[in-house]
Amino acid sequence: MNIRLDGKRALVTGGNSGIGASIVNELADAGAQVAINYLDHPEVAEQMAQSIQQKGGQAITIQADIANMVSVEAMFKRIDEAWGGIDILINNAGIDGDYMTSWQADIVKWKQVIEINLFGTFYCANQALKRMISQKMGVILSTSSVHETIAWTGHSAYTSSKAAISMLTKTLAQEVAPHNVRVLAIAPGAVKTTINQNVWDNPTGLKDLLEKIPMARIGEPSEIAQVAVFLVSDVASYITGRTIFVDGGMTDYPEFAHGG
Ligand code: BGC
Repeated sequence: MNIRLDGKRALVTGGNSGIGASIVNELADAGAQVAINYLDHPEVAEQMAQSIQQKGGQAITIQADIANMVSVEAMFKRIDEAWGGIDILINNAGIDGDYMTSWQADIVKWKQVIEINLFGTFYCANQALKRMISQKMGVILSTSSVHETIAWTGHSAYTSSKAAISMLTKTLAQEVAPHNVRVLAIAPGAVKTTINQNVWDNPTGLKDLLEKIPMARIGEPSEIAQVAVFLVSDVASYITGRTIFVDGGMTDYPEFAHGG
């Protein structure tokens, strides 16, 4: 099966690093036009756009803070000006936030995680859906996490934001299904990016992490990105309102490989 996205106009938030960057490259390889959103490191986004253009693809870069509604509106206007609309939104940008137990939480930092991961996802979905509903076509794929279902001490803002993305996905999917628009989420497990480098970069952290994964290895960004391309393509035309887990079995309770 050959998955093609020729002529599709896509936006990837947080597209200049980690899983987002891999999704940008996979979308472009499948023929989509890609808008690479970034918050900082414009040079990385520019370099990515240039290498897509050198291969004959189309890419633009857009600086925007997804936690700021005005900034998000301006980003979508920029895409309208460049391409006249949007067909695929990948809500990828997000942060883990600092480790902090609930009783020690710095409320400003706690709120910031929710503002980026949840409000940011909603602001972008809101803008994308205004356009997708009127053209009666489109797909939104938001990055959730295994932590939409697995509790994670010290990360209550993060787990809450990802659980919220699950229900946001289901509800938006129900709202827009009659308009031929699909809404999905993808839930990566431990994937090798800078977000968790402090864990996989040291032997103790890595050993502990691998014990939590039945497949006993960390995922590569491309293993998430390829599933993302499938989900936003017409090959997945009958899937909506669901989170797809891509986690090497992390949500399969590896502790139960023995005992019980
Ligand atoms: C987090 C990573 C973490 C992984 C597994 C992801 O959602 O962003 O930091 O390693 O979940 O716990």
